[in-house]
Amino acid sequence: MSRKKIIIANWKSNPDSPGRAAALAKKIESGILKSKHVEVVIAPPSPFLIPVSAVLKKAKLGAQDVFWDDIGPHTGEVSWHQLKHLSVSFCIVGHSERRIRGETDDMINKKVRSLLEHGITPILCIGERERVGNEIPTVVEEQLHDALRGVKRSFIKNLVVTYEPVWAISTTVSARADTPDNAFRARVYIQKILVNRFGSEAKKVRIIYGGSVHARNIGGFLREGKMDGALVGGASLHAEEFITLVRNAAAIQR
Ligand code: PGA
Repeated sequence: MSRKKIIIANWKSNPDSPGRAAALAKKIESGILKSKHVEVVIAPPSPFLIPVSAVLKKAKLGAQDVFWDDIGPHTGEVSWHQLKHLSVSFCIVGHSERRIRGETDDMINKKVRSLLEHGITPILCIGERERVGNEIPTVVEEQLHDALRGVKRSFIKNLVVTYEPVWAISTTVSARADTPDNAFRARVYIQKILVNRFGSEAKKVRIIYGGSVHARNIGGFLREGKMDGALVGGASLHAEEFITLVRNAAAIQR
């Protein structure tokens, strides 16, 4: 089954001004090609969604978080409804940097369901904090089950799952590089859980990799790791590096 590859720039809380955000997005736009094989998403901090959106032509717009309910008395929250007005088509959910600050599986589940029901693609992040040995820890299965509780089978193909082991994220203290082989095992593990739960329709779910991905290692994760793309943090803040990463991803035929 052929799934379109997807490369997502997760800018986290960077850069520091709307002007710099627009300039970075513009630079990335000028270097990427419109491709049938690779979709590019840029996810800036929410105050910069509008200036970034104004310069995007080939890349799509992503948010880094969402509130599951409609507009109303939810101080500080940004609703799916407001994201839709800004033409946001993707939204990261359950990133480990949010889980660590108190986002629970229940909140993640509400966000995933709300996004799917309102036509925004959730980029659901799962992954263990620590790794001992070769086996994918069962916490990955638990996070997946909890996030997808009550999700209707008809929506499942619109999901993107990111396997992002926390120990491989570039800003984790003593981060260590992951291998395409581990990524492949995670891919098989996650797809099996999805297919058991939702049937063969779940083979359409894109399963991508996150954790210190850059222009030189993307090939291994896509080719040997059989991942459908990547969630890219640090390397997405450097236009040249990110453009090369996208081009390298586009060059891989599967
Ligand atoms: P990194 O971040 O590419 O800098 O490791 C990835 C992420 O946390 O989404």
